[in-house]
Amino acid sequence: MSDKIVSKVPALNGTVTIPSDKSISHRSAMFASLTKGIVEVENFSTGADCLSTLNIIKNLGCKVEFLNNQNIRIDARNAYKNLNYNLDCGNSGTSMRLFSGILAPRELEARLYGDESLSQRPMKRIITPLELMGAKIKHNHYKAPLLIQGRELFPIDYKSPLASAQVKSCILLAGLNTYGETRVSEPYVSRDHTEKMLKYLGADIEVSGNTVKIRKSELEPKNISVCGDISSAAFFLAAGAVVPNSEIILKNVGLNPTRTGIIDVLKQMGANIEILDKTEICNEEVGDIKISSSSLNGIAIEGEIIPRLIDELPVIAVIATQAQGKTIVKDAGDLRNKESDRIKCLVAELQKLGVVIEETQDGFVIEGKQTINGGVEVECYHDHRLAMSLYVAGLISQEPIKIKEFQWVDISFPEFEKLMESLKV
Ligand code: S3P
Repeated sequence: MSDKIVSKVPALNGTVTIPSDKSISHRSAMFASLTKGIVEVENFSTGADCLSTLNIIKNLGCKVEFLNNQNIRIDARNAYKNLNYNLDCGNSGTSMRLFSGILAPRELEARLYGDESLSQRPMKRIITPLELMGAKIKHNHYKAPLLIQGRELFPIDYKSPLASAQVKSCILLAGLNTYGETRVSEPYVSRDHTEKMLKYLGADIEVSGNTVKIRKSELEPKNISVCGDISSAAFFLAAGAVVPNSEIILKNVGLNPTRTGIIDVLKQMGANIEILDKTEICNEEVGDIKISSSSLNGIAIEGEIIPRLIDELPVIAVIATQAQGKTIVKDAGDLRNKESDRIKCLVAELQKLGVVIEETQDGFVIEGKQTINGGVEVECYHDHRLAMSLYVAGLISQEPIKIKEFQWVDISFPEFEKLMESLKV
């Protein structure tokens, strides 16, 4: 167990290259496993969640070779040949929910299980639409482990009650292997990496507004390059915005518009933020971001922007403590279903640091211009994003803070501390 002590810093300055996007890395390995060919993935995530996905595709019959630390070759010519699989998803909701969609329409039996946290997370959101397609899934009161008894499925036109990329992707992946046209609509557009990568690999997929249609398709084995993760960049954007006298350049950040809610929020709060050198890699927008500290104002965050910044809300709470005026977050009830109950746990830990924050059923309200006292121990509840958000709070606390079990950052961002240290002046 590694506890971390974080102290106030006078400034953060420099340039960091943001490591690989977790959502896109998961999809690169999953979709490569479906190509029946050989795919090289450049800049695959080193986080534990994506390694869970790599282990799963190995168990499904892919050969995975590391060409170096971050580049991998996936040989999928012998994948999905067995009739029985037992697959460990670790802490990763994306692995469990997307593989359910991949496995349900195949003639095989697969058991998907995970760690204590994943075993508590809701799976009804994917079991219901898969069952409507004719899938057979045994579950523990709609939680993991899931036993998928694969069979031929039927297309559906599903109106998802949630704006969730994991739900949408699960249905699209089931539809990819189902005759006829499968459709999914969602109340607001959630991250669309599945749609973009499936299109890149040649799938018959079409997006119009909040609806995606897919037909049974074979995927072409094309090499994939993964950009940096804006959800990892968010901790640096937050630190650059709130630590006085800072200027940080973040290189190679994914700028897919379904993920850039954090940039919109920072701009609206009055941050000095600039996008440099925008380009496109494998259908995904990428660029560098420059941020420097400035005075900020509190805002209301609700509605369509929520899925575009869902993973950034804990660190947005830390930014909001330094803004002038209240910040109100609404419509984010699904935060309670993440790696931890991110509303309850965030509020509890920020309150320990002396922050005035009020928990609401679907978000929180933070008073602005606060002093973060620190001088205490805080918990991250086995949640990587809470650990990194608390670290950013530590950078502006009056007294150092101790974050217990900080190793949970390795789930998405093992390089986090080294990169943050490199900016300390
Ligand atoms: C993800 C989708 C989001 C996000 C998660 C990764 C994905 O979850 O919070 O970290 O890769 O599809 P939901 O689909 O549950 O909102």
